[in-house]
Amino acid sequence: MPVRKKSFVQALPPAPPPRRTTSDVVSVRLAANENPLGPSPRALAALQAALNNIHRYPDASGTTLKYALAERFDVRPDQVMLGNGSDELIMLVCHALLGEGDEAVLAQGSFISYARRIQAQGAIARQVPLREMTHDLPAMVTAITPQTRLVFVCNPNNPTGTTVGAAELMRFLEQVPSDVLVIVDEAYREFVTRPDFPDLLPLVRAGQENLLVLRTFAKIHGLAGLRLGYAFGNPDLIAYLERVRPVFNVNTLAQIAGLAALDDAEHLERSLAHATASRTFLTTQLRAMGLTVIPGETNFVVVAVPDDTTVAAALAQRGVLVTPLSGWGLPGWMRVSFGTHTENEMFVAALREILRRSCR
Ligand SMILES: Cc1ncc(COP(=O)(O)O)c(C=O)c1O
Repeated sequence: MPVRKKSFVQALPPAPPPRRTTSDVVSVRLAANENPLGPSPRALAALQAALNNIHRYPDASGTTLKYALAERFDVRPDQVMLGNGSDELIMLVCHALLGEGDEAVLAQGSFISYARRIQAQGAIARQVPLREMTHDLPAMVTAITPQTRLVFVCNPNNPTGTTVGAAELMRFLEQVPSDVLVIVDEAYREFVTRPDFPDLLPLVRAGQENLLVLRTFAKIHGLAGLRLGYAFGNPDLIAYLERVRPVFNVNTLAQIAGLAALDDAEHLERSLAHATASRTFLTTQLRAMGLTVIPGETNFVVVAVPDDTTVAAALAQRGVLVTPLSGWGLPGWMRVSFGTHTENEMFVAALREILRRSCR
């Protein structure tokens, strides 16, 4: 007899199998919104010094890093949770709050993990279409039912790069019932330039119980490979969520690197300046090709192309990896992470050639 599996887990898309590539084409990785400048040099130095200690288990409470985050952001240490990437925090929240038949509200055309993690619990993902590529918060309020346990707001949104402003988000938070948790994912907040971007920390400090703010060291800090994310929330909520996390979820090296990266203002500044320059360069070049671009407030741009899957495959053949957004419910759009300046130029040259050929 076969193992009795959960039908809602079986229905999830399978994880990609390991596949060795024999291609010798240079890979320009513009598909995962990584920091092309590399990790924080301070983090690298701290890691070197810590390597001799990895025969010890990590601090299961992440004490030093939690205190440092609390001090930096003026919250209490018991308002901080650490995750093996913010992706793990998304999984843990869904695990802790959702069961079969429960509902969660999210935008259709937002970070792919949300729907997967909701569905992995046997819960229903109520996906609300974007309006002008941006979260439609009034429609998301309307989608809340008595079965709704949580709502995801990705701000700035991955994969569209768009943001919602403070007034709109505060109105939304007032309208969501107090027994529904709002998770605001701010993975890209360090790249944002709009002056009225919401600051949710005053609400966290005030102890709002139905708010969880997610952040990560994977983007501007350049530590994607170490897996480190964090969350701010009400102490009771954090204590509740901590009950379901694996004891040693954040490894020693991630904790040490995160601590050092937090203090590396120079790396942050350089990374931000590079992102701003890349955004201007790519937006200008793509628009000069007659393409529609959403510049966004992140470390990627989104561009409209005639057939995103075909164009992305043609780019991959030339060694340039980008993300076609058909699979995210946004056909005809492609997400391009910022690379080094040379990589950005290689992408532009490859795309220009592909589009020229397809017009012949
Ligand atoms: C919006 C958003 N949230 C969370 C994550 C996951 O980040 P981490 O690497 O910290 O798991 C990503 C990664 O791309 C993201 O885009």
